[in-house]
Amino acid sequence: MTSPLPSLPAASVLDLAPVVPVVVIEVAADAVPLARALVAGGLSAIEVTLRTPAALDAIRAVAAEVPDAMVGAGTVLTPQQVTDSVAAGARFLVSPGWTDALLESMRASGVPFLPGVSTTSEVVALLERGVREMKFFPAQAAGGTAYLKCLAGPLPQARFCPTGGIGPHNAPEYLSLPNVGCVGGTWMLPADAVAARDWGRIETLAREAAGLRRSG
Ligand code: 3PG
Repeated sequence: MTSPLPSLPAASVLDLAPVVPVVVIEVAADAVPLARALVAGGLSAIEVTLRTPAALDAIRAVAAEVPDAMVGAGTVLTPQQVTDSVAAGARFLVSPGWTDALLESMRASGVPFLPGVSTTSEVVALLERGVREMKFFPAQAAGGTAYLKCLAGPLPQARFCPTGGIGPHNAPEYLSLPNVGCVGGTWMLPADAVAARDWGRIETLAREAAGLRRSG
């Protein structure tokens, strides 16, 4: 069954939602109740990372059974994973870094994508290839908001989804930057809550995350 949601216009991942939950799923059967909890809390753009054997089945299940979710694939590292993710129903693609082969397959997939960068030269190389929207990873370790502020001077046309080390304490500062479209992270999905299938707690954390606003 295919999702009834319309296709996204290209390059709009950053404008889907201010906060994108990054899901690492061990049990595919947990994906639907987990996604429903996130959507109920107000987080409907959901990145399921391809870090576990359950990930593609999880994407397939959410795409088929949670029509209010916009499910995407994260940690996409190879052209084969691009193909498999889109076939499973992923509506957007995210990678922690990029190569030309990966970039070309993402471009050819027809769905919006965010290649990952952590250095200025990687940003310049993506701009040279016509890509202006990217993931900034690992955000805190790579320089955080101070780094992104510096990039906005010479490279104002690049826009970012920072992830890695982001939580309620620093998300508003990231979201206040003109070159940040959204932030991603796992903080609303604590491992103990997922293991306990405590969907109520995850819904509460999702609601708090969805309420985060730009600071200042
Ligand atoms: C990602 O893949 O985007 C990050 O691993 C999320 O990082 P976090 O666990 O620090 O939020």
